[in-house]
Amino acid sequence: MPRLCVIEGDGIGREVIPAAVSVLQAAIPGLEIVRAQAGWDCFLERGVSVPPETIAAIRTCGAALFGAVSSPARKVDGYRSAILTMRQELDLYANLRPVQSLPRVSPRSGIDLLIVRENTEGLYTGRERLEDGGAVAIAERVISRQASERLARRTLDLMKVTGRKRLTIVHKANVLPLTDGLFRDTVRQVVAECRHSGHEVAVDELLVDIAALKLATEPERFDTVITTNLFGDILSDEAACWIGGMGLAPSINWGADVALAEPVHGSAPDIAGKGIANPIAAILSAALLARFAWGLPDAAQRIERAVWAVLEKDLAFEGSLPSPGNTTRDITGAILNRIGTN
Ligand code: IPM
Ligand code: MN
Repeated sequence: MPRLCVIEGDGIGREVIPAAVSVLQAAIPGLEIVRAQAGWDCFLERGVSVPPETIAAIRTCGAALFGAVSSPARKVDGYRSAILTMRQELDLYANLRPVQSLPRVSPRSGIDLLIVRENTEGLYTGRERLEDGGAVAIAERVISRQASERLARRTLDLMKVTGRKRLTIVHKANVLPLTDGLFRDTVRQVVAECRHSGHEVAVDELLVDIAALKLATEPERFDTVITTNLFGDILSDEAACWIGGMGLAPSINWGADVALAEPVHGSAPDIAGKGIANPIAAILSAALLARFAWGLPDAAQRIERAVWAVLEKDLAFEGSLPSPGNTTRDITGAILNRIGTN
């Protein structure tokens, strides 16, 4: 029976994660739940944003669902972002960010693309320093063959399983020929090897600036995008507008044998505690766990179909979508009903 480590985190994480857990339990009866702590409040209480027992619990379960964390915008001594810590410590090297049109909430129908973001290096290695007495600040951007290669392998495996056919490598090798050149060439090599073994994938490449424009103007041109850490961070927020906004964007951080799903949105302190947070991103993230971490595509599909049906038929919309009248509880209840009847 699959086991899930539940980490609500801060702010609206405490509302959307219980909602998503109830949906997972309805779709996967007998799912075992283990609770753990992480985030800013955890840091304030215990002096550490991700306690070692949380890392151990995620490892033991093999799958975790994480809400959101509040982070200070300035450096706080001893504090490290909880999500970045978990990605590093668990070596969750691939971040999958699917962008699919949803009924009524998406500005356009028929979009179905996947952004695969490298999740352990690039500008996220935390190698920042000051020089010249603070007059110069330097960040190191690290790209390795090993990280690029394993990312490309996983992406191609995934494309094979899900029937995706076209891979776009997004980089900035015109300005960063060594780092992004290595990323691009390594991905191309893996694609060539796969071709030899009979898995045909069309491959092209775009500079990140033009990729940003095309994602905004021709999202249908994309199938699977593979890119480095910060570019993937930025492009996936941009592309989330095609789902219908951040309240609807799911993701999964995936390592060799551990996966951690999380809604892409933040902890939204302005609406936390009011019961009005949209749980759909968290619920769709839970479906990604079912599909990828546990290999339960039927359960994933039941959840996704329930979300689609609720958006299409059950929710009232007034102007903004879904309308402010829909509480977290209303939306979750409607999805649970649909799972019950599907
Ligand atoms: C994301 C977030 C994180 C990131 C932040 C919270 C550190 O924006 O998951 O996209 O930059 O990766
Ligand atoms: Mn981000």
